[in-house]
Amino acid sequence: MTHNDLIKQLILSFNSNDNEAFLSAAREYIEREKRMKHTQVAKELEKALFDKSPSISYSERRFKDAQPIPRDSEKGFPLLEIKHYDDSWENLILPQTIKEQLNQIVREFKDADILATYNLSYKKKILLCGKPGTGKTFSVQIISSLLNIPIVYVRFDAIISSYLGETASNLRKVFDYIEQGTWIVLFDEFDIIGKNRDDIHEHGEIKRVVNNFLQMLDNFSGTSMIFAATNHQNMLDSAIWRRFDDVVYYDLPNEATRQILFERYMKPIKRENDIDLKALARRSEKLSPSDIKMITEEAIKLAIINSHNSLSMANLSIALDKFIKREKVKDNMLEDE
Ligand SMILES: Nc1ncnc2c1ncn2[C@@H]1O[C@H](COP(=O)(O)OP(=O)(O)OP(=O)(O)O)[C@@H](O)[C@H]1O
Ligand SMILES: [Mg+2]
Repeated sequence: MTHNDLIKQLILSFNSNDNEAFLSAAREYIEREKRMKHTQVAKELEKALFDKSPSISYSERRFKDAQPIPRDSEKGFPLLEIKHYDDSWENLILPQTIKEQLNQIVREFKDADILATYNLSYKKKILLCGKPGTGKTFSVQIISSLLNIPIVYVRFDAIISSYLGETASNLRKVFDYIEQGTWIVLFDEFDIIGKNRDDIHEHGEIKRVVNNFLQMLDNFSGTSMIFAATNHQNMLDSAIWRRFDDVVYYDLPNEATRQILFERYMKPIKRENDIDLKALARRSEKLSPSDIKMITEEAIKLAIINSHNSLSMANLSIALDKFIKREKVKDNMLEDE
């Protein structure tokens, strides 16, 4: 994290009363000062942060009252992370209908009070499905930015796969935590439902866990919005679908959208005249926004490392070819398995 990122993180976490994030950023800042041999500054900051004198008991109280992040009782790893985002709606490139759908979710949340007077509730449980790298996680980050509410990020597969027996209790802890505040909750990598489906033992266990999760979702009475993201929508049965207030589908981008994506990701660098956006879009069939981002970044690095201050079509072609080749190798290996 850069110096500016750290300061921003401090302010954002202070603003949203997120003590854990505040402490972690403050600690990182102090470590940074130490690394830079600013020993005196580091000492003073440490004192300011942890001093027990009555004059700063306010910060102490804050830290004490804060809900601790729930942890796995056996291994002690944190079951969730609180993350802050600051990104703009325009950076999310999706078909108009999908953006409208997301926008509606945001607006309902903002107008929760008005809806309540009609005895209606905003959409609280939303399922995001679609291919990898199409913007599911990114969409939640954008929504978090728009609403200025941090994300409680839960890696569903981590909670589950590590210690199957502990899962129910882990899930309970997560739900207890999120019911105490207003968060954007993201159960990411919900895919576990689709994985290991051939392993009968695992399958039974996972099914139980999923049922457990759905029950908690049904009983959820907090004010947070809960998102679950998966790229195995085919595996989800109707029992799961109907638990959600809305389902958003993410498709791979079409040619025109791929062109927009290439152009967008090239923004940070000057472009040479030979760049043929149409050709790039044509040659990147079946690639996701995330793939296109990776390719463009690779090309930009090529340009920079070769001491050119502008991006050329050659840079892009090399990066694109390399990516396509890599995908082919990956597919072949999967076939061989
Ligand atoms: N629709 C999009 N518009 C703009 N950028 C995107 C879009 N989709 C993906 N990206 C870029 O690719 C990155 C990775 O995408 P993201 O993590 O949202 O994919 P995902 O759908 O959650 O994939 P997975 O199923 O693998 O978790 C994002 O951080 C963003 O920079
Ligand atoms: Mg994701």
